[in-house]
Formats: sequence, C-alpha cells, structure tokens
Amino acid sequence: MAKRGAFIVIEGLDRSGKTTQTGRLLEQLEQRDRPVQLFKFPDRTTAIGKMIDGYLRSQSDLDDRAIHLLFSANRWEIASTITNLLASGTTVLADRYAFSGIAFSASKVTAGLTYEWCRSPEIGLPAPDLTVFLDIDPEKARERGGYGDERYEKEEVQKRVRGVFDRIGKEMGSRAGESESGGRWVTVDAGHEKDIVQGIIWRLVEPLMNGVENPLMRLWE
Ligand code: TYD
Repeated sequence: MAKRGAFIVIEGLDRSGKTTQTGRLLEQLEQRDRPVQLFKFPDRTTAIGKMIDGYLRSQSDLDDRAIHLLFSANRWEIASTITNLLASGTTVLADRYAFSGIAFSASKVTAGLTYEWCRSPEIGLPAPDLTVFLDIDPEKARERGGYGDERYEKEEVQKRVRGVFDRIGKEMGSRAGESESGGRWVTVDAGHEKDIVQGIIWRLVEPLMNGVENPLMRLWE
C-alpha cells in the first residue's frame, strides 16, 4: 500500500523565528518529489478566522471561552482536508496547531481556564507525526527586537505560554514511547543562528519525507 504523507507541525514562541523557519522548511519540502501543503493557524481567511483576526487585533472583544472555541473550530473546519491530503500522499506542514490553542488560552491568568478545559476541544484532531517546538528565552526574544502589537505579544504572557508548551511537550514525549505516530515532540533551541536552526529542523523532518506507514492518529485519543 502507498504510504501516506507526513503531518509536521511547527510551534514556537513569538520572536522564535517560526515564520522564517516554516518558510524555509516549505521551500526545502517543495524541492522533493512529494506534494506538500502548508496550513497556518489561525487561518484568518475563513469566516471563523475573520472573527479571530478582529479579536487578535483588539478590534473586538470576546469571552475567553468563546475565543478559545473559535480557535479550535478554525482547526476542525480544516481537519478533514488535512486527513484527506495526508491519505493522498501529500506532506502537510502546519504553522501552529492545537498546542498553541492550549498554551495561549491556559496562560490567560484572568480567564482562569484549566489546562484540561483548554485541551478538550482539541481532542480527536489529526495528530502530527512530528511537532517541532521553537523555544526561545523570552528575554532573548526581547533582545531580538521586542514583541509586536497583538494581544498576546507581551513578555509576561510569553513566559507563561512557554511553561504550558513545556508541559504539553512532556506529555507528548511520554506518549511517543507508546506509539510511533502518537506525536513526537522535539524542542529546538531557537536562540541559535538561523541556518543552524534550519539544519536541525531538516534533520528531524527528512526521515519522514518518503511517507509514513503507520495510520494517522488522533490527538489525545
Ligand atoms: P499567528 O497568526 O501565528 O501570529 P504570529 O505569526 O505573529 O505568531 O498567531 C496569532 C496569535 O494567536 C499568537 O499570539 C498565538 C495565538 N493563538 C492562540 O491563542 N490560539 C490558537 O489556537 C492559535 C493557533 C494561535
């Protein structure tokens, strides 16, 4: 039977170089024989995505639970497309995914949302074969030129977000021992120079480029 495509997720803290690295990885993947498609979450082009965009740019206010569920719905509306692409042999690359959903919402101190509550709507989404988490010390991120103007781009928030990503990584790490496709999580120090980070990511991704044999898993199921 033909192998399915690999599902690769890039997660990262703000100023970690996530956008640059995702772009470089996409270019490298496009040079291979296998088709590849990039998804960016939030996908601000859909009706749900437009609501998220307004919220992030502080043009609208939404209940903390409501916005959390919109971020999740924004993934669910694309989930079957991802599943079908993988089945047809396409490599799928995602810039942020369910892990950002949990990390950012669970980090809002005033909202008081538990980790478990934040994770619930993400259960059952297609599970990545590999998640690369680009980690950067929030103080180093500040030296890189500071954060932008959007809602979560503040050092205190980033520190808490980093803590939640760390927890998710530990949980995913232990799952990877049980099942190869249960979601391998690799933390990469994004404080290195760009080309070095790119090289590290490529060494992780390359073994998946000929396709994946084991069936697609669902997150936390
Ligand atoms: P993104 O569009 O990736 O912005 P950037 O490229 O500047 O990092 O993400 C926008 C913000 O949305 C970012 O602060 C992370 C946050 N976010 C959530 O809160 N929940 C989610 O589910 C996702 C995917 C992102």
